[in-house]
Order: sequence, then structure tokens, then C-alpha cells
Amino acid sequence: MDFKGEIRQGIPTTLPNKKKYELEVSHAPRRVIEGVLSEKEKQLAIRNALRYFKAEHHELLASEFATELEEYGRIYMLRFRPEYKMYARSIEEYPYKTAQAAAIMLMIQNNLDPKVAKHPHELITYGGNGAVFQNWAQYLLTMQYLSEMTEKQTLVLYSGHPLGLFPSHKDAPRVVVTNGMMIPNYSKKSDWNKYNALGVTSYGQMTAGSFMYIGPQGIVHGTTITLLNAGRKLGLGDHDLAGKLYITSGLGGMSGAQALAGVITKCVSVIGEVDGKTIDQRVVDGYVLAENVFTDLDKLIARCQEARANKEAVALVYYGNIVALWEKFVEENISVELGSDQTSLHNIDDLGYCPIGYTFDEAKELLIQDKDKFMSEITATLKRHVNAINSLSAKGMYFWDYGNAFLKEAGDAGADIWKNEEEKIFKYPSYVEDIMGPMCFDYGFGPFRWVCTSGDKTDLDKTDAIAAEVIKEMQQDAPPQIQSQLKDNLTWIEAADKNIPVVGSKSRILYADADGRIKIALAFNKAIASGALSAPVVLGRDHHDVSGTDSPFRETANIYDGSRFTADMAVHNVIGDSFRGATWESLHNGGGVGWGEVMNGGFGMVLDGSADSERRLKSMLFWDVNNGIARRSWARNDEAIFTAKRAMEQNPDLKITIPNIAEDQVIMDAFSKLKSEG
Ligand SMILES: NC(=O)c1ccc[n+]([C@@H]2O[C@H](COP(=O)([O-])OP(=O)(O)OC[C@H]3O[C@@H](n4cnc5c(N)ncnc54)[C@H](O)[C@@H]3O)[C@@H](O)[C@H]2O)c1
Repeated sequence: MDFKGEIRQGIPTTLPNKKKYELEVSHAPRRVIEGVLSEKEKQLAIRNALRYFKAEHHELLASEFATELEEYGRIYMLRFRPEYKMYARSIEEYPYKTAQAAAIMLMIQNNLDPKVAKHPHELITYGGNGAVFQNWAQYLLTMQYLSEMTEKQTLVLYSGHPLGLFPSHKDAPRVVVTNGMMIPNYSKKSDWNKYNALGVTSYGQMTAGSFMYIGPQGIVHGTTITLLNAGRKLGLGDHDLAGKLYITSGLGGMSGAQALAGVITKCVSVIGEVDGKTIDQRVVDGYVLAENVFTDLDKLIARCQEARANKEAVALVYYGNIVALWEKFVEENISVELGSDQTSLHNIDDLGYCPIGYTFDEAKELLIQDKDKFMSEITATLKRHVNAINSLSAKGMYFWDYGNAFLKEAGDAGADIWKNEEEKIFKYPSYVEDIMGPMCFDYGFGPFRWVCTSGDKTDLDKTDAIAAEVIKEMQQDAPPQIQSQLKDNLTWIEAADKNIPVVGSKSRILYADADGRIKIALAFNKAIASGALSAPVVLGRDHHDVSGTDSPFRETANIYDGSRFTADMAVHNVIGDSFRGATWESLHNGGGVGWGEVMNGGFGMVLDGSADSERRLKSMLFWDVNNGIARRSWARNDEAIFTAKRAMEQNPDLKITIPNIAEDQVIMDAFSKLKSEG
């Protein structure tokens, strides 16, 4: 059977051969279900899984799935992983009745491509547990539905489960995805483990479960911008960080971007990574040079000082625990300009953070054998981690939380991390609070992205050139407040092709504001209509954006009116996008900072050069950014108030409720008056 036939077939009626467990592929860690699922609940997990298959296969599959559940802590239905190569094909290679559905198939396959996904056989794209689907039956059935859907239908996905095709209309989203929507009281991390093991909910991370992950370049661009703006904030340099030192951890899915971003910004970065396999992968990827990996801290320090003196743009790696690295810098009394952390602290239960005194493998063993001891070692490690950072910060280092739940977990561990524990104010800002929020999101700048569905590199090159032209035009009359953003983004797009190889689909990320996104999208649509671009273009963005995500310690960390613990913005964003023309929509619980800690959403939009596309992009992209601008402005953020007023000047139909700002003294007096009267 050819590829199209296999897609149309969905779940095969004849059982495919059992697949061998390929050791050369990166596999998800075993999920701990001991003490999580009772015997009855394990039976329920099997009963749930068998719903996808005909009764004649139940006996065989029941025992096979029981084995998977015991061995991996999940039922992935590994036998059903397709034999065809998994990658984003050109749009015309998919069987479809609407090109919109074909574009979605392309995006799904990209997110499962072994070159793109972290644990491809377990359908995990990134972030340790960011799943595209829970199991292979869901994948097969979804692809089948997409191959047969028309523009009068919408596919509904509940945490990867395709509930079915429902009649809708041409302007409706073709797919609506939710991942991990829980009754709030059942949204603790342990709930994820239980209900995911039962097969009824999923962790979609941000872009994994919405099929919008485009490989590491997205994060490289974002990290570059964060480092540059951190430098600007500290007066370390307007355009680069030459001769400055950045210490951090993690060479994983997203954290690995730090090595490249460090070099792009011309600083000396020193990155601690405890997992040897991860370091090897980054050497293979070309992110770090083998000669720059050290196990000896003295040698590493000597090389670091040399690189700093020579203003080398270089990424040095310490193969070991980040806490040992920090403590060495304290011991040697070496000043550091910038510091952060990108271990997966949001995911401690799956070894996202390795306790000191243990190799990565030893920690894995400890986690399985003695979870309580593991947790107490984590607590002790976090306290040491924070102490070392406190020492260096006292000497002038600027440290920020990189959205990995560092501050939160350190606070929970009882580390010396509070500025004011009662008011829940940490000593350090999150990168959104100080950098991304006020310098990007409040002006509407966020990680816009696109994918050329032809799969043709020349199309991608043309879109890069189109986007660069649009930015240059915008620079002519942009206000001074956003000139540095436009400059960074122009520099990025002009060098993106050279800076980082495109992995998987032919895609590009570019930070842009509402105006920029709309202008770039319009130019793409025109280019498709004229034939300058050979096929439709998919637009999207990271959920980590102006309006897409409510996350009190990350995306909405710079919201100070108390509303950062609400999730209205993210939910409204998805609802608003869906009736303004999105091709698919997704709403997730639990992105990078952990299950129950964040609500985030995103969209995909297929441009095909038509007038319909033009109408939809204008309407949806304007809302998609200005929803967040309006909320950020209502939270009294000056930059967002400026942007909201500018947006209203550009579009007379927009009326944003602008806050009146009360004087501090008026508020203070109100209470002192009450006291004196009382
Ligand atoms: N890069 C960004 O812009 C960005 C944005 C938001 C959030 N984050 C967060 O950053 C974290 C990292 O993301 P990722 O995709 O790279 O995850 P990942 O799990 O792929 O990588 C984390 C790495 O940290 C290493 N590690 C764990 N404990 C360590 C220790 N004590 N010492 C040294 N190394 C240690 C692990 O071996 C792993 O390779 C996540 O929590 C993510 O949500 C990153």
C-alpha cells in the first residue's frame, strides 16, 4: 500500500507486525505508576485503550498493552507506529479533500519527525512530556479523518483523542484541539500522571500538542533576543555581549539553544549539563564543539577566563551538575555578568532536575527505587543552587528565571529565594517579568512563525526576503519605542539561514508585532496568489506570546494587578481566533512551567493566496495580538498602554478600555483616613 493509502486506511484492520524497541532512538523515561494506578485503574487503562480496536484483536492487544503499561508507565500502542518515514512531506503528497487539512497533516508529521521530536516513538516532541498524541491509534485515526474531511467539517481532538468530524462551515476552524483541560481541583502534577496513564488526558506542552513546533530555531531566536535585551537592560552593550560571561544549565530540547544564542550575541557562555548523551547530541548538531566540553572544573575556568579576555564568542560546557559549576565560580570569586537556569524543573517527577552527588543514571535509579529520598536530595540541591546564585548576585550578577519553574520550585524547597515570602515576591525576576514582558510582549512583539508547505527551500528563502523588506519599510516610520526590536528582528531574519540549519519542515520564526505580522502575512498571501511562492504557507506562533498564555511565573509575570493568576486571556484568545478565521486552534493546560501552572493556546492558519485568506488573516492576527495588548494595558503596563492607543489610531473599530491611573498617595490616604476615623 502506498503512503496515501496508508493514511486513508487509518487504524489497520489486520494487525501490523510488532515493532522492535530501537535502542538508537531517544525514548521517554519510564513513567512511575506504582502507587498511582490501582489494579482496577490499570484494568481501566487497558479497557480504555481497546476502544480503538475491533473485538477480535482484544485478547492479544490487552496483554500487549498491559506489558507496555508495566514497562513504560504508559500505553503507546507501539505496534501501530507506521512503517513509512515520518517527516513533513510536501503538501501535495498527502491525500486530502481540503488543502487546509493536508497542511495540518504536514505539521503533525513534522512534530513526530525523529529529527525534530525528542522521543518520537512515544509521540513526545519536546520538554520531556510534550505529546502530539497519547498513542499511535490516535495519530492514525486523526490522519484518516483529516484525509477525508471537507471544508464543511471540523475535527475535534480531546487531548489527542479524535472525538470525530462534526459538521461546521467554511470559515470554521478545521481542527479544534484541547490538551489537559481539567476540573481545576484535579490539576495537580500527580493528577497528570494518573489521568495520562489512564489514557484520558495529555500534556501538550505548548507547540507539541498543537503541531506548531518547528525545531530549535524558534527558541534560538527567542533566547538571542532575551540575552541582547538583558545586556541592554544592564548597560552591557546595545548590539552584542562581547567579553561578558553568561552561566546557565541545560543543553536539552530548548535549553540547547543557549549555546547558539550565546555565540550569536558574542558572549562567553558556560553551560552545565549532567546528561552525557545530551551533550553528545549537541556536538553532533554542531551547537558545541567537542573540544569545549569539560569535566574538570579547573580547566574549564582557565578556558573561560581566556575566552573572556580575548572577547571570544564561544559556548563552553561543563559535563556535570550545574550546582557544582556555580559553587566553583563562588569559590574562585569570579564575577559573572549574566546567569540563568534551564534544567527542566517543571518536570522534577521525570528527572527534569538532577540532584547533586549523583550521575544522571544514578539519579534515574534513585527516582525509581526511592522517590522520597530522591525528593529530599532535590530539596537539598535546590538550596545549594540558590545559595551559590545569591553569592554571585550580591557581587553584581543579573540572574533571571528562564520559565522553567526555578523560582517556584526553589521557593517550595525552602531555599533562600524570597524577597518577601508573604507577598510571594522572589529575589529574582522571571525573564518575562524584566525582559520579554516589558521589552517585547507589551509592544506586541512575539514569536510569529511560518511554514512553506511546498517543502521547497527556495520558497523559504523568498519568504525570508519578503519579511526583511516588510521590516525595512516599517523601520521608516516606526516610533522610537520599537526601533531596537525591529533592528534585532531584521538582523535575525537576514542571518537566520546562516545562523541555524532548518530542521524538518521549511519554516521560519520571526518576532513581530501585530502590524508586522499582518503586513508579512499579506505579502505572503499576495506572493502565493501571483505564483511567486509555489504553495500555501502555514502561519502560527509559539503559545509563549503576547496573548496566548496565562502563566503567573512566566508569560504574565509582569502583570501586577493580581490578574496573573487568572486565565481569561488565554481562553479568550482561542475563542476569538476561532471565529476570526484560524484553520486550527488549541488550548492547553501545563506548558513549560508545569501541569496546573499555566493555560496556553495557539493557532495555525493556512494562507492559500485567496481573498478568504486575506480577510481571515487581517481579522485574526489583529485580535490575536491586541487581545493581550488590551489586557496588559488594563494591568497598567505603560508600554502596552502606548501600544493599545497606537492600535486604536490604526483601526477605528477598535475601542480598548484604557485604565485611569490612581496616585499612590490617594490609595495610602484612603486607608489612613479610615484608620483615623475608626
Ligand atoms: N529556552 C527557552 O526560551 C525557554 C522558555 C521557556 C521555558 N523554558 C524551560 O526551560 C526548561 C528546559 O527546557 P528543555 O526543553 O531544554 O528541557 P530538557 O529536559 O530537554 O533539558 C533540560 C536539561 O537539563 C539537564 N539537567 C537537569 N538537571 C541538571 C542539573 N542539576 N545540572 C545540569 N544539567 C541538568 C538535563 O539533563 C536536560 O538535558 C523547561 O522547563 C522549559 O519549560 C525554556
